[in-house]
Amino acid sequence: MIKIAPSILSADHAALGEEIARVEAGGADQIHVDVMDGHFVPNITIGIPVVEAIRKRTRLPLDLHLMVANADAYLEAFVKAGGDSLTVHVEACPHLHRTLARIRELGARAGVALNPATPAAAIEYAFDGADLVLVMSVNPGFGGQAFIPATYAKLEDLRARLAGRSLEVSIDGGVKLEHCRPLVARGVTTLVAGSAVFGAVDPAAEVRRLRAAALAAVAT
Ligand code: DX5
Ligand code: ZN
Repeated sequence: MIKIAPSILSADHAALGEEIARVEAGGADQIHVDVMDGHFVPNITIGIPVVEAIRKRTRLPLDLHLMVANADAYLEAFVKAGGDSLTVHVEACPHLHRTLARIRELGARAGVALNPATPAAAIEYAFDGADLVLVMSVNPGFGGQAFIPATYAKLEDLRARLAGRSLEVSIDGGVKLEHCRPLVARGVTTLVAGSAVFGAVDPAAEVRRLRAAALAAVAT
């Protein structure tokens, strides 16, 4: 099964409830929330109060992408605020194994993210502690950037290292319709898309188009 996860980074932040309702109507599987601290990444976005607020507006799982330097200090607050999965960056977590264990202990799904320049090998000894791997296909910090083609080789490497494990493989950054087929063919199970969805005239229709393109790839 392929999941479509619209990133609200590119949504109208003054109308997040309505924006989420739009993609929910289009059949989105989860809502991707980009938390940035202005330290690990050069931008500041959404924090705990906003996660709490959107938790009340949707039943969809909230997929929190924590682009923060000191994730350990905020894990409990983000789970209490309504996060269903918490994804931390290997580059920002010196004790990754412990951080992932803590996320699971708090009752959420544990994810680990890789920046474009970080090899898949950097996390292979953490696979047992993780429920999902998020591969960044842009340098984190901003929506609307171009997909980095070297990501395809990394996904192939990651798939070989996963060796049949059932971890979710999520792709995040610059994902457009034309990427769905080659991504799914390389083992991606979750497509995060921000500007492609919320920059579209009809975000619900764009979610449906992304799903159709992904499913066509599964069928071939
Ligand atoms: C980038 C974020 C992404 C971003 C994706 O740092 O992690 O989730 O919102 O947006 P697009 O799809 O526009 O690249
Ligand atoms: Zn993200």
